[in-house]
Amino acid sequence: MQPQQAGDEDGDVVTPWTVTAKSETGVDYDKLVQKFGSELITSELLSRIESSTGVKPHHFLSRGIVFSHRDLQSILKTHEDKKPFYVYTGRGPSSTAMHVGHLLPFIFTVWLQKTFQCPVVIQLTDDEKWICDPEKMTREKAEKFAFENSRDIIACGFDIKNTLIFSNLGVLSHKVNLPEFSPLADAIGIKTTNNKVRAVFGFSGEDSITKNFFPARQSVPAFSTVFRHVFGMDEKSKPIPCLIPCGIDQDPYFRITRDIAQKLDHPKPALLHSKFFPALQGLKKKMSASDETSAIFLTDSPAQIKNKINKYAYSGGGDTVEEHRAKGGNCDIDIPFQYLRYFMEDDEKVAAIHKSYSSGEMLTGELKKVTIEVVQKLVQEHQRKRAKVTDDIVRQFMSVEAFPRKNCSSLDFEQD
Ligand code: TYM
Repeated sequence: MQPQQAGDEDGDVVTPWTVTAKSETGVDYDKLVQKFGSELITSELLSRIESSTGVKPHHFLSRGIVFSHRDLQSILKTHEDKKPFYVYTGRGPSSTAMHVGHLLPFIFTVWLQKTFQCPVVIQLTDDEKWICDPEKMTREKAEKFAFENSRDIIACGFDIKNTLIFSNLGVLSHKVNLPEFSPLADAIGIKTTNNKVRAVFGFSGEDSITKNFFPARQSVPAFSTVFRHVFGMDEKSKPIPCLIPCGIDQDPYFRITRDIAQKLDHPKPALLHSKFFPALQGLKKKMSASDETSAIFLTDSPAQIKNKINKYAYSGGGDTVEEHRAKGGNCDIDIPFQYLRYFMEDDEKVAAIHKSYSSGEMLTGELKKVTIEVVQKLVQEHQRKRAKVTDDIVRQFMSVEAFPRKNCSSLDFEQD
């Protein structure tokens, strides 16, 4: 299934299902921004984030990993005017094993929550996974994956008092009490034609009517009134603005949402887009759970991580030590270096490695060793935190008690 709008005459394909690039340096993001009609995050905008929050922008922002936006200025203005906004993100739970690339939007969303002290809602589209692949996926399995994936999401450090995680199947079967969800999905569906979803997502006449309707459900959480009770809004409250951090593959959903928001008297949701964490094999593909050798999973052991990086991680180094010393390595295509850009926080260390590897002083094996240590530490820390997320804690995150929740556990990952 290829969406008509997202295919590129030059070969890059970016859709919610497929990401492939023609060049070994990855997707041409400047071109993608032009095609999607979003805006690049400028240094002026980064300065404004810093001045309006007093916090240095996250390294995903300063390194251009979170690189594009829609209407971020209006969210910053809302914050500067001391008015509320909320953050909405999500996950389609296709298996129990998430990979390190999946952590990006959640790590970043935790940073947004801490920096702006804002409520967060997280949608788990277990319905999507069932609807799109009913041959392989059952409703029960999808619901189970949603619950298990919640543990990984919670382990990223969300504030239990101010975060709601819900699954669509949970809402549809009334296990989660969001009574305005389905009427709102219908209202969105009424304003969305088949032609529109076919053009945006590549759906065809062969696709089920349930699948055609799904985009309406992904739009719903961008409308604050569905969380009226949780956000403490009454019938007369004006809708609260929404900010959606996501990989840029999810943008097609929210282009539709933004069109409809106006028609339903809501503010258009703002967006922050991130680039894709690449596959071990190189930047032409994103890391994907369905392609096992492309991914480092959050369940991998230190030995598995070491083996995967040593065996599969595409190198931008020279073929021989002599060639590498003479010509240097190419960091732009080197996967171990790219992973450090995502996960090594110290800017000076990253710059020093860039210099040393590009000049040929640092060898591929040495760079891989550093990357292995960084990724092993990230995954081990994640596993330590995840082990603390009990079933009861997941249920508390899924409770629709008003924010800030009072009857919840204190969740401190640093304490043993
Ligand atoms: P899903 O589960 O495919 O992906 C969840 C989030 O992770 C991002 N992502 C990646 N980011 C960087 N590198 C990668 N290799 C990578 N793979 C996935 C995705 O862009 C996404 O932000 N339908 C959605 C679930 C959803 C959602 C939302 C996502 C529902 N509501 C609101 C974002 C915002 C899905 O299946 O995501």
